[in-house]
Amino acid sequence: MKERLDKIISSRCLLTRSEAAKAIRRGRVSVDGIVCTVPDTKVSASEQTVTLDGQSIRSNRYLYIMMNKPAGVLSATEDKNCQTVLDLLPEEYARRGLGVVGRLDKDATGLLLLTDDGVLNHRLTSPKSHAPKLYHVISDGMPKSADIETFAAGMDLGDFVTKSAKLTICDGYSLVEISEGKFHQVKRMFQKIGLNVLALKRLSIASLRLPPDLAEGEWRILSDGEISELCAF
Ligand code: URA
Repeated sequence: MKERLDKIISSRCLLTRSEAAKAIRRGRVSVDGIVCTVPDTKVSASEQTVTLDGQSIRSNRYLYIMMNKPAGVLSATEDKNCQTVLDLLPEEYARRGLGVVGRLDKDATGLLLLTDDGVLNHRLTSPKSHAPKLYHVISDGMPKSADIETFAAGMDLGDFVTKSAKLTICDGYSLVEISEGKFHQVKRMFQKIGLNVLALKRLSIASLRLPPDLAEGEWRILSDGEISELCAF
């Protein structure tokens, strides 16, 4: 049975009819791989492949979004005074009950994962998960080679002792991989070795990597492959 494209998108993707029409006119919807910008196009949802933002509308039980968080935006879902990462998403995604999988400080940038899949969120953020997170760090001086061992051994930060972390000293920056996500953790680890973090960017969470072509402030829906890899973590 063929139906209007805006009706299909509206009912399957929890959008109002006018939001669905707007998404279609903006080129966010494809039918059988071809962008369709005409809301009243007649389509068979059972025989044709319809996608919104690249995601098949048949497999959108949960939403998984990656974002390159810009500095100055809060990785929270609401705030009275400050712009949040949800403000960077289309309205219909912002009201889906998305949670942030591991926050980033307001001044930090890089990979942020948002999902309404509470099980995956819990799995990746629970203290037992040990999901590795990789950060690119610019500090006001370079760590010494002895600090590699200090990071690996675990550091006493007063209120907790960090798990073993991998520090790599590069040319003008460092890479740090941690397997937990305590508040300001990387900044505090650097403070402990006498350095201040000037810029912090997250490059990966578990199997998910920040794509080099995703500019700050941009987002995209995860591919089916990226979702399966994360869920298998
Ligand atoms: N460590 C920090 O200090 N800040 C972050 O945002 C993430 C890890």
